[in-house]
Amino acid sequence: MKTLRIIPAVLLGAVCVCACQHKEDMAPAPEKYFPRVKTIITNNCLSCHSAVNGTWQGRPTSFDTDEEIVAANASIKASVADPASPGPFGNKRMPVNGELSSEEIATIVTWLEKGGRSTD
Ligand code: HEC
Repeated sequence: MKTLRIIPAVLLGAVCVCACQHKEDMAPAPEKYFPRVKTIITNNCLSCHSAVNGTWQGRPTSFDTDEEIVAANASIKASVADPASPGPFGNKRMPVNGELSSEEIATIVTWLEKGGRSTD
């Protein structure tokens, strides 16, 4: 009868060991780009692209919400990373009054490559 009482203890021990090992094997959570993209946009773009601030110069684009940023993901990337092109539908280089650092541009490009969502 003694062995019957030992079995649950052994099983419990095995579960613990497995659970702990599993935790250590897990890869670290993948790096998130969207929070960094938002910071870049807040610092460099909202001065002209905010309906909330009343600084909505960049017709028709406002980047106040996650949804607005995600909906404009490709044009945001184009405006900071692709060459400017002439014409009404040409690409405008942003920000108007300067240029992002190469690190900031790389962050936006990588975010779009990963899917350009608020979860990326
Ligand atoms: C100094 C003001 C200013 C800043 C700062 C600025 N923009 Fe703009 N942006 C504009 C204006 C004005 C236009 C419209 C240009 C035009 O149509 O000739 C525009 C247009 C755009 C467009 C094209 C919109 C469309 O629908 O055609 C995008 C995309 C854009 N900006 C992204 C950005 C991003 C991203 C940043 C920050 C990295 C930024 N802008 C910073 C003023 C600004």
